[in-house]
Amino acid sequence: MKAAVITGASAGLGREFLRQMPELYPDIEEYWLIARNKDRLLEAAKDIPRQCRIFSLDLTKDESYAKLAAECEALRPEVWMLINNSGCGFLGNIGEGELEHQTRMVDLNLKGLTAVTHTVLPYMPKGSRIINVSSIASFCPNARMTTYSASKAYVTAFTFGLGEELKEKGITATAVCPGPMDTEFIQLGGIKGNSKTFDVLPYCDPVKVARGALIAAGMGKSVYTPRAFYKLYRVLAKVLPTKLMMQFAKT
Ligand SMILES: NC(=O)c1ccc[n+]([C@@H]2O[C@H](COP(=O)([O-])OP(=O)(O)OC[C@H]3O[C@@H](n4cnc5c(N)ncnc54)[C@H](OP(=O)(O)O)[C@@H]3O)[C@@H](O)[C@H]2O)c1
Repeated sequence: MKAAVITGASAGLGREFLRQMPELYPDIEEYWLIARNKDRLLEAAKDIPRQCRIFSLDLTKDESYAKLAAECEALRPEVWMLINNSGCGFLGNIGEGELEHQTRMVDLNLKGLTAVTHTVLPYMPKGSRIINVSSIASFCPNARMTTYSASKAYVTAFTFGLGEELKEKGITATAVCPGPMDTEFIQLGGIKGNSKTFDVLPYCDPVKVARGALIAAGMGKSVYTPRAFYKLYRVLAKVLPTKLMMQFAKT
């Protein structure tokens, strides 16, 4: 049975990926939905006319990776699409605020994404796709979101390296790099109302981001950045000195 695995499928961009997948990838028969809150996953599963398996897992925890590995071993899914979307981001300087916020960004955005990819990859056939949700924050370090932007720089670099490794197997990896989206993310991270940059930046629509990302992945693109404004930002971050860029990129 052709399957897709989506992390963070219960809210925001992840729920939008789930909602749009059946139209764009009609061959996928079964969805594995991962997040912590089981009830919200069950609610999200109602959005699509497909079989869904619900996995209530905290992807910061090692035991969750073991549980996912055991399910894969038992059910041996044929995973045609893996979407690593779960992520969190907290505003605040290092050394201030809660340590747990800093470590959670590392544990979820880096460790969780790496562990899920490593675990699911052996079940992905030739022609399958991986989407890793990164951010415009991966293009240049953002003061006051230093750990978050470093974590997303990892996600983008990881995706490029992975795509190269998987060329021989005929599997593609796409890094998706949206700007701000009006989801729970910016509330939970204490960003909304506390960052002048977030107040003035153009927002991305999760509906359009999910659609563009699913199409880009289908085409085997290595990176997808929505909106002309952020495409230009990505180019500038490549050609201008990082120290200069960081002055414009403060959160
Ligand atoms: N919103 C933005 O401004 C923005 C901009 C650029 C990139 N991004 C990236 O886009 C992705 C999706 O963000 P979003 O805006 O859609 O966020 P969101 O609305 O807060 O949704 C996050 C999803 O991840 C799940 N999640 C959170 N902690 C988890 C954990 N420990 N283990 C497993 N799942 C967990 C959440 O479900 P549970 O809480 O039930 O676990 C939820 O389904 C993230 O990678 C984020 O970094 C967001």
